[in-house]
Amino acid sequence: MNILVTGGAGFIGGNFVQFMVDKYPNYNIYNLDLLTYAGDLTKHKHIENKGNYQFIRADITDRETIISLFEQKQFDYVVHFAAESHVDRSITDPGIFVKTNVVGTQVILDASKAINLTKFIHVSTDEVYGELDFDPTTFFTEETPLQPNSPYSASKASSDLLVRAYHETYGLPMNITRCSNNYGPYHFPEKLIPLTISRVLNNEKVPVYGDGKNIRDWLHVIDHCAAIDLVLHKGLNGEVYNVGGHNERTNLEVVKTIIQALGKSDNLIEFVKDRLGHDKRYAIDPTRLEKLGWKPTYTFETGIAQTIQWYLDNKEWWEQIISGEYQNYFEKQYSIEE
Ligand code: NAD
Ligand code: DAU
Repeated sequence: MNILVTGGAGFIGGNFVQFMVDKYPNYNIYNLDLLTYAGDLTKHKHIENKGNYQFIRADITDRETIISLFEQKQFDYVVHFAAESHVDRSITDPGIFVKTNVVGTQVILDASKAINLTKFIHVSTDEVYGELDFDPTTFFTEETPLQPNSPYSASKASSDLLVRAYHETYGLPMNITRCSNNYGPYHFPEKLIPLTISRVLNNEKVPVYGDGKNIRDWLHVIDHCAAIDLVLHKGLNGEVYNVGGHNERTNLEVVKTIIQALGKSDNLIEFVKDRLGHDKRYAIDPTRLEKLGWKPTYTFETGIAQTIQWYLDNKEWWEQIISGEYQNYFEKQYSIEE
């Protein structure tokens, strides 16, 4: 069985590649990635010589290369993670989000429909549904209308619609998964949780947008990987699956939990200018996926403790990131007094 994973050098794709290489020694796992600022291969050192793993450096928007690769390899499954993923960057520079997330997905879809693919898994996000208000009894279901608010989520919603259209028009077998906020090992330190851990460890201020009351629904990345594995093998053709474990927290709660776990003071919190169009609340109803047999293994408490420990044990990984080009990004994005 040949499985192509796009974006397998990033955070979730990287965890998924390792999960699949370990779990299925008889599958051939191909990791296709351009290695943008968000991609890194050092995380795969321990699997790079395994017989069931191969890396391919390519750009999903490079039609000629992608089409000929698919003709050559005749993949059975495609699990499509590759994307620009950071909302703040999409507010500053939407163009690359349309190119990678919309045009890139269309290229991968064209290549997929040209071969005898068993299934295309499109890894999407709860952000395509827009935002919920603070009423804790309301959730995103698969029937919630798509109402994306940021250039990032608009580009993801557009790619979801293309995947749906290729299923309806050309009969491409597919599933779309829409997951809530992930956290865990190898999370790039521009995102809230790894940003907080790395800055608290360095005794630096943590920027909290607005009043910190926005709510996200957090899921450990391994539980997301297990969900995708299940959908790949058992998902009903054409179905959308929401992925989330009912772990709603305000941003302030998340930041305070990390500060407390690291034995530091809340004085490190700095309220900064709010994100433009900042979605108030996300919360997933995962009933359909649970009926398929999925159950998360981490609570937020066990997951965040494991993640903090991982960042303590793997300082060289994130220190190498925050000392490079990332510094320029940080200074442009925030104006924090140290
Ligand atoms: P990430 O930014 O960590 O990784 C993205 C990867 O895609 C990187 O390795 C990058 O090099 C690669 N890539 C970017 N442009 C490419 C191109 N043109 N060609 C080939 N590769 C390219 O992202 P992530 O957080 O791991 O998210 C992965 C996917 O999961 C995305 O599609 C995202 O929308 C979705 N998702 C993320 C979350 C989350 O909380 N992070 C939640 C739900 C869904
Ligand atoms: O919901 C799934 C989505 O989760 C994914 O589709 C995206 O790819 C992923 O990046 C994530 O998007 P968010 O915008 O929710 O994640 P982020 O970590 O950027 O922000 C989480 C919350 O924390 C959000 O309400 C904004 C806030 N925040 C973020 C940063 C980076 C801050 O208060 N300060 C910050 O410095």
